[in-house]
Amino acid sequence: MRDILNIYYKSVEEKINRRYPALPYQLAQLNYPKNLLRYDSHWGGLESIILNILIRFEVPRNNCLEFGTEYGYSAVALSNYFYSVTCVDTFERDVNAGKHTNNYNELAEGLSVWENIQLIKSDFRYLIAGNDSEYDLIYIDIVHNFTDTYDCDIWASKHSQCTVFHDTQSYPEVNKACYHLAEETHKKFYNYEKFLGLGIIV
Ligand SMILES: C[S@@+](CC[C@H](N)C(=O)[O-])C[C@H]1O[C@@H](n2cnc3c(N)ncnc32)[C@H](O)[C@@H]1O
Repeated sequence: MRDILNIYYKSVEEKINRRYPALPYQLAQLNYPKNLLRYDSHWGGLESIILNILIRFEVPRNNCLEFGTEYGYSAVALSNYFYSVTCVDTFERDVNAGKHTNNYNELAEGLSVWENIQLIKSDFRYLIAGNDSEYDLIYIDIVHNFTDTYDCDIWASKHSQCTVFHDTQSYPEVNKACYHLAEETHKKFYNYEKFLGLGIIV
């Protein structure tokens, strides 16, 4: 069963990479941050490339905005590197992750030990409406359809020097949104292929 799934994922990846080409993001070494949540997150592994991205693109370390927090794995990973991390989520999951009851209160209590993490319970659309705040890095990991990813992207790329997206290898729509965004904003689109894929727009 696992072999069949791997063949399927590989064929999806090949189609994606042909249709929406990106600059390959290559790494000399991985760096693991000190603080991490211990559970089997789909984000697992990506914590090891954050520092490399920050150094390579000279991203300042003041404020980071995350769209899509779920159980907090990426939020805690990012909190190792920024003075403040603001995390926006409906906390109800979505059609990709599977809907569940709102976990905001439970997560707020669990993450309270990390004083530089702030949770905001909101749809990303309300948060960006009329919002002129600037961030050093914006990380996007919401529902993986083209429209939502693209709408969130467009705002994010105008409000940060570096925008990062999860699931470029597993969801063609995310890759397509990154590709179009980079074309339209005349930015560069790098893709890191491991750990389900990380798109980097700079
Ligand atoms: C794949 S999970 C995020 C995983 C997380 N980054 C991690 O480290 O494991 C996607 C999250 O996006 C949130 N989400 C989906 N659509 C959203 C929207 N329109 N506004 C805000 N959050 C949304 C869901 O509630 C869900 O928790």
